[in-house]
Amino acid sequence: MAIVYGGDYNPEQWPRETWAEDVRLMREAGVNRVSVGIFSWAKLEPEEGRFDFGWFDEVLDMLHEGGIGVCLATPTASPPPWFAATYPEALPVDESGRRLTHGSRQGFDPSSDVYLAKALAITERVARRYHDHPAVRLWHVHNEYGCHNARSYSAAATAKFRLWLRERYGDLESLNEAWGTAFWSQAYSSWDQIHVPLPTPSIPNPAHVLDFKRFSSRRLLELYRAEVALLRSIDPSKPMTTNVMTGSHPDIDLWEFAEEVDVVSADHYLERPFEHVNLGFAADFARSLGGGKPWILMEHSTSAVNWQGRNRAKAPRELLRNSLSHFARGADAIMFFQWRASRRGAEKWHSGMVPHVGTDSKIWREVCELGARLGELEELEGSTVTADAAILWDYQNLWAQEHEAKPTDDLNVQQVLNTCYSALWRAGVTTDVAHSEGDLSGYRLVVVPALYLTSNRAAENLKDFVRGGGTVLVTPYSGIADENDAVYLGGYPGAFRDMVGVRTEEFYPLIDRTIELTSGGTGSIWSEAAEARGAEVRDTYLDGTPAWTVNRYGEGTAHYLTTFVDGDTLDRVVAAALSDAQVEPVADAPAGVEVVRRSHDDGRSWLFCINHLDRDAQVKTATAAIEVPAGEVVVHAESEN
Ligand code: GLA
Repeated sequence: MAIVYGGDYNPEQWPRETWAEDVRLMREAGVNRVSVGIFSWAKLEPEEGRFDFGWFDEVLDMLHEGGIGVCLATPTASPPPWFAATYPEALPVDESGRRLTHGSRQGFDPSSDVYLAKALAITERVARRYHDHPAVRLWHVHNEYGCHNARSYSAAATAKFRLWLRERYGDLESLNEAWGTAFWSQAYSSWDQIHVPLPTPSIPNPAHVLDFKRFSSRRLLELYRAEVALLRSIDPSKPMTTNVMTGSHPDIDLWEFAEEVDVVSADHYLERPFEHVNLGFAADFARSLGGGKPWILMEHSTSAVNWQGRNRAKAPRELLRNSLSHFARGADAIMFFQWRASRRGAEKWHSGMVPHVGTDSKIWREVCELGARLGELEELEGSTVTADAAILWDYQNLWAQEHEAKPTDDLNVQQVLNTCYSALWRAGVTTDVAHSEGDLSGYRLVVVPALYLTSNRAAENLKDFVRGGGTVLVTPYSGIADENDAVYLGGYPGAFRDMVGVRTEEFYPLIDRTIELTSGGTGSIWSEAAEARGAEVRDTYLDGTPAWTVNRYGEGTAHYLTTFVDGDTLDRVVAAALSDAQVEPVADAPAGVEVVRRSHDDGRSWLFCINHLDRDAQVKTATAAIEVPAGEVVVHAESEN
């Protein structure tokens, strides 16, 4: 079977004459799959209850005749103008209480029953009409849930939030206890007194806000479930997915979504400053969400996006490097947003596979080259990636840290994650992304970046991992509060104190300064009045306070940092942790050359060598020296093949 290759196809943006040319060009580029219907609701149902499927029949037939398979979308991410006009109460409400209007997309309140009814009505029509169309391979449910409307502060949301809370806590006494409402006289005596967190005179209750974020993510999951249940009742056989953002877009808990998709599909766009390193994280995360199974890169860009303020066009060969890095990290489908760059509308400055300038272009030539290369890599389909190291990432921890009242605004958990992941990337180690409560038994090293919110289960999970012989590297501001955002007592990091062998009395955020370390390195953002209680001290502040400690715990080892160390120091700490864990880089490669292995169970394996440098490089393994020209990707079949 061919590797899936293609992108979002939005023929409704173009006159009919273009469609035949589209299919011809798709074939020329080696495209074998497109996603259609994502934003077609207004054209499929131009007035409430009046449907027009003729043009869509034509599109699907034409694609099928051209040998192009289809990811068929439910068009529910962008309700038409009639929806907003007829049901204004179904529009989303922002956090200041203002109701938004129609005019862009995702113009619906996730808690609106009328939205759900209308979304299911169009979904049912589409499913009944096309479930047995020969072009359709997979259901692409909705599009990026919660990309713009993840949290709605409507009356409907308040009503559903109350129900959700009743289910979660059972009675008000438990809710009051969990939320710590004894503080500031907030104890609730009736469910009706609870609202979604709207503007309030001072700092809102953190546990209330955290639960609202949990609720909002679950609400979107309920919408996904409802569409899937309907689709399955009509078409039980085809796989279903919804495309998620694994690189950014932090408002939905992807661990919960991942449990409900048949195959993980992810979208990724380069963002400064981490660009291709963040791409590695996003791809590793997509693979990890599916438990290591091949995944679909549903969208990425051929060149510039339009939404970053200053939108960088990709350099020559960057498209190929990016796509093949996703492929190296386990994607079995490489797709773009979108087929043709739009002439009109909000995304007219977003690149596509067919750029404004046409086919005499860098983009088109690279699109065709990529299609040809994926064609040659057919035998890799279904192969997987193995990682000995994992880094933890958890949305609920992120949401808790978004709260405004904390030791310092300078500590950003996403930055800590990026910094730690970058160090592993530089070390040439392939990394999975894991949940703190997930199965860690397959790993030898687990990195714990600012896991402020550590549930009791997560704490036990990590301690079991280390007791059993694993190595952890824990950064500051981890193990601080439980799942209800209540601080662990007796000295920080409360949940991990015995594991790391350190007790901290107070935090001393570094305000506009860094601190020097005995090793010659520096720390920034954060420092602690830490005392080693059993741990070996590897580096200190100049006053002797531990900066980096290592503790033997059970059969394993726990590294702990009490400040955010500079890049070189972090590289040394990571190298020490990797060595304790006996984790090796995939190959011997110069800095800036990415190497990832994909393999089949039968022993066939391939090394992807991606040279991000502007000079030629050599990658060495035990059996080969692989020359990788500047900016190029070499896929090296290893000797057992
Ligand atoms: C998201 C959406 C697409 C498009 C791209 C632009 O991924 O799913 O419809 O808006 O962003 O980068």
